[in-house]
This record gives sequence, C-alpha cells and structure tokens, in this order.
Amino acid sequence: MIINQWYIACLEDELKVQNPLKKKICGEELVIFRTESGKISVIEDRCCHRNVNLSLGYIQGENIKCGYHGWEYNCDGKCVRIPSLSNEERIPAGAKVKAYTVIIKHRCVWVWIGEDARIDESLIPPMSEMDEYPMVYNYHFIDADLQLVAESLFDAYHINHVHRNSIKGMMGALKDERMDFNMQVSENAIVGNYFRDNDRTLFEKYYFGFNKKVETYFGFWFPNISKLDIRFKKRRMVIYEHFYQVDDRLVCMCQITLWKNILDLFPPFARWFMLRKSINIVREDIAFLENNKRIKAETGAKDLLIKSDEVTFEFIKLWKRKTTTHEKLAEKED
Ligand code: FES
Ligand SMILES: [Fe+2]
Repeated sequence: MIINQWYIACLEDELKVQNPLKKKICGEELVIFRTESGKISVIEDRCCHRNVNLSLGYIQGENIKCGYHGWEYNCDGKCVRIPSLSNEERIPAGAKVKAYTVIIKHRCVWVWIGEDARIDESLIPPMSEMDEYPMVYNYHFIDADLQLVAESLFDAYHINHVHRNSIKGMMGALKDERMDFNMQVSENAIVGNYFRDNDRTLFEKYYFGFNKKVETYFGFWFPNISKLDIRFKKRRMVIYEHFYQVDDRLVCMCQITLWKNILDLFPPFARWFMLRKSINIVREDIAFLENNKRIKAETGAKDLLIKSDEVTFEFIKLWKRKTTTHEKLAEKED
C-alpha cells in the first residue's frame, strides 16, 4: 500500500445526494459525507459502540448518525450524542474515530492517507480541465497489478490493438509504427506528447480538424493519476484515471472523461455517448490487465521490454524510485 499520499475519496458529484458514501482506500475504510451546511468530511467508517460501518447510517444536521443505535459523530470523528445516555452518564472519552484531512480541489474530494505530519498540498496533481469541462466518470474494481494499471492509460502502443474496436475515429490514424515521444520526467511525474497521423474520414476531419497530425499529451503523477489528452484543432478530449489498491487483492480504477467543443449542441447526448464509450474502453483494458496478473502469478515470467518501450522504462524507473523511497522511510520509522 502506498501511503502518505493524496487520494480521491470521491468526486464532489457523488455527494449530491445526502447519503454517506463508503470507500476503502489502501485497506482503510472511510465514510465520506456532506453535512446540511455543506461541509464535506471523511472519517473512519466505524461506530465505536458495536463496530459497524457508519456508512450504513444517515446525516442529521452537521453530524453523521450511526444506523444501528443512533450514536452521532461530528466532522472530527467525535461522538457528540448518544440518544440512550442516562442523566448520570457521560459520553465515553474513547468514543471517537479517526478523522482524515480533506481538500476539495478540481471537483474532487482529496483525502490524505498516511501521517498528518507529512501532508503536502502541493502533491495534488494539476487537473485544471476538471474545473471547466463537462465530465463523466465510471468506477471499476479489478484484480490486477497496480503498476500496470497506472501505466495502462498512457501506453501509446496498446491503443491500436486493445482499442481497435472502440477508439477508431476518436484519436486520428492508428498506424502501427514507432512513435517519437517528447518526455519530461520530474520528481513525482512524467509528462509528454506525441503526434498521430490524421487520416480520418472527410466528415471526421471536418469536425475535428484538417491538421495532418493530431497531438496527444500524456501524464502520470505518482502514485495514482494518469492522463491522456487528445488535442484536435478546436476540440479536446481528456481522460484521467485515478487508481489505488483497495486491499491486498483489488485495485479500484476510476476513469474520468472530459471534453471541450465535442457534441456541444446536445449536452445530454454527449454525456450518454462519452460514458458509453468510456465504459467500453475501460473494459477492453481490464481484460488485459487481469490477464497479465494471472499469467505472471502462475508462471513467474518477467516482461521482455524493447527500446521503443521508452515511456514504460521511464515510468518503471520513477515507480521504483518512489516506492523504494517509501519502503526506506517505513523501515526508518520502524
Ligand atoms: S453500533 Fe453504532 S450506535 Fe450502536
Ligand atoms: Fe487502454
């Protein structure tokens, strides 16, 4: 589990209804809720009374109420009311659960998983499109290797094959050849771009632009955000993926698709279309991601990378560097 990092507990959109939301990130069970005054809070998903999930409860005023016997917890995780308490009794001092540090940014509820002393707001990736473009999202829980999931969105060479039935007509020509990547690697991220030939149909060219090349940006921010950003002349499609280890086995992947100037005349149709496309695309990836984990587990086989896997090499280096630092720090603290 990669801790001491920001994770997206949920999108603000998910909190529209006044029900608590349950999430498990890096083995930690969280309940996310929005109080009646609009405050968003993330606390441990456990009632101290008889140890059940608080997410089975409901919101009342500024507190979350356990669904079992009605103990009430505030945004700091402190039990502030026990309905059955007698006049001689006080709320026990230990009636408190962990409260997480939360930041609302880019329409997401970010939660810090790890030690509070290490909190660093600057580690939240730049995702400015989230603040302005229309968006759809979908969640998947898969039995796959986290590192491969992290890489799956910006692996340029898989698109021609894994997505041969879905991405056609959305990214420009799918030529099977080596691509020239421009890449910048920093402490926590890799960003870069490459160009694809634009040999669409006449209609698509009219819509997306007659440029000979279509520019594709990609990005990865350790440990849990990757990006694919296709820039046509006046239109743009941006996909973000947020992924994390739920527990020892499952990985959660949330794909967020945003667009600019695409199907603008029909917003509800655009949302329906993009969501359908996005779910199909992720399913195509998942088939390979799960397959890879099983084959590796059963055979113990290692990857055989070649020179043109240069983005993968940089990614692996960054991942190794960051995860070993993380392990070292953990050892030191032990
Ligand atoms: S278990 Fe939560 S109030 Fe009893
Ligand atoms: Fe993919």
